Amino acid sequence: MKKMCIFLWILVFKLLVITDLSFCQDDSGSVRLPVSRDKSKISVEEAINSRKSVRSFADIPLSLQEVSQLLWAAVGRIDDSTSGATRAYPSAGGIYPLKAFLVAGKVNSLDSGVYWYDWREHQLVRIVTGDKRAILASAALGQSCVKTAPATIVLVADFSAVKRFYGNRGRDRYISMDAGHAGQNISLQAEALGLGTVAIGAFHDEEVKKILQADNAPVYLFPVGKKE
Ligand SMILES: Cc1cc2nc3c(=O)[nH]c(=O)nc-3n(C[C@H](O)[C@H](O)[C@H](O)COP(=O)(O)O)c2cc1C
Repeated sequence: MKKMCIFLWILVFKLLVITDLSFCQDDSGSVRLPVSRDKSKISVEEAINSRKSVRSFADIPLSLQEVSQLLWAAVGRIDDSTSGATRAYPSAGGIYPLKAFLVAGKVNSLDSGVYWYDWREHQLVRIVTGDKRAILASAALGQSCVKTAPATIVLVADFSAVKRFYGNRGRDRYISMDAGHAGQNISLQAEALGLGTVAIGAFHDEEVKKILQADNAPVYLFPVGKKE
């Protein structure tokens, strides 16, 4: 009997891990993300060497663990023993003007919708319900990879926060540099997970902003999925 109980507990535990059920969405649609990992099967050199833009994705959903890892690598929280909570990307003056949104269409255990990534709590906060991939693709000048990828990470930036400190130089240069750092983190993390992505800069700002219901301007899109 005791053995049977232990066996059942192991089975339930495995099911929770496999199906991501331990990370259920609450009534507001928010979801706590699994803890990000700090090891990959490939080295950073191998990731740099094999990374290529991917615009065609297999029809396979992303897992919450993959989403967790990508968002953490983009703009996530790093706890530094000297300076406390800091971020995964370098930012001029430590302003960290970027926010990440997830436009999810096919992610296990996650309803389709638009989510804001709360980097402090490592959770997704639902902003809009429903699959917005097709209208995001049309806002991105019809680029089909945005429609077919299971999810797209959108980086937006608080331009006024940076302009207040650094004037036009901050607005015209530093924000793009910050976004480039976070974007490269996404690209290399995707590669390390055996996923593919492409940096997308061609889109209509106002349309993307409206889809996200964001106060800030979008700077970069990263559709992500399994390579075909
Ligand atoms: C700032 C920026 C904007 C880009 N915008 C787009 C885009 O809108 N659509 C697209 O398909 N690729 C876009 N790309 C990807 C480039 O086309 C791609 O990185 C380049 O052709 C080199 O290929 P590789 O990434 O495979 O090395 C962009 C890349 C950068 C850095």
